Amino acid sequence: MRQLIAGNWKMNGLLADSLELASAVVKGAAALPCDVLVCPPATVLRAVAGKVAGTAVAVGGQDCHAKEKGAHTGDISAAMLKDAGASAVILGHSERRTDHGESSPEVRAKVVAAVACGLLPIVCVGETEAERLAGRQEDVVRAQVWDSLPDGFAGVIAYEPVWAIGTGRTPTEADVAAMHACIRAVLLERLGEGGRRLRILYGGSVKPANARTLLALPEVGGALVGGASLAAADFLAIAAAAAD
Ligand code: PGA
Repeated sequence: MRQLIAGNWKMNGLLADSLELASAVVKGAAALPCDVLVCPPATVLRAVAGKVAGTAVAVGGQDCHAKEKGAHTGDISAAMLKDAGASAVILGHSERRTDHGESSPEVRAKVVAAVACGLLPIVCVGETEAERLAGRQEDVVRAQVWDSLPDGFAGVIAYEPVWAIGTGRTPTEADVAAMHACIRAVLLERLGEGGRRLRILYGGSVKPANARTLLALPEVGGALVGGASLAAADFLAIAAAAAD
């Protein structure tokens, strides 16, 4: 399966810079050996989707509510993302789990809502530094994967160690490979054969300088890129390093 390189713009970008970034990504995306997704802030999602329409670049949201609609001030439903032009949505990012106290069962409910609207869910999991230092990383991630996925899940998983996000630090190649193997085993246990082909992205300080090595590791099905996705040249360099 082609690798997926997804850019998580987080809470960055007003309309003008977002459109400029999207145009630059589109210009470089045509010949890439991978699927490319950008996840802009909700306020510019429709405009970015319009800019990339008909190109190789897809657009995703960064979160959605589990309910279809109703009295949830400030929240955005999966249908709204879809209506604005999204085809995917990041769910359970560690910044959501930390800043908004999202639990894995809540993430699972969001996955169900996203799938019901035809969005590809990208479910994030990852241990904190304290959990890794205590040797608990596999237990933590196993529980997050198990509890965040509904039966029959057919989306994408992103392994993002919390301590590697935005820090410039990454796990060793052996640690990434070990965790991806662990996640694959959980997917097979949880989903049966359906778990064999799902892409498991790596995320956390992916840069042009380390992308080729990370993307070549066994069971790495792509990358979820934060900081480096805000510069088109860096994001495209990472995507160009994808294994085809
Ligand atoms: P980073 O973020 O690439 O800036 O480390 C990754 C993410 O949070 O998805």
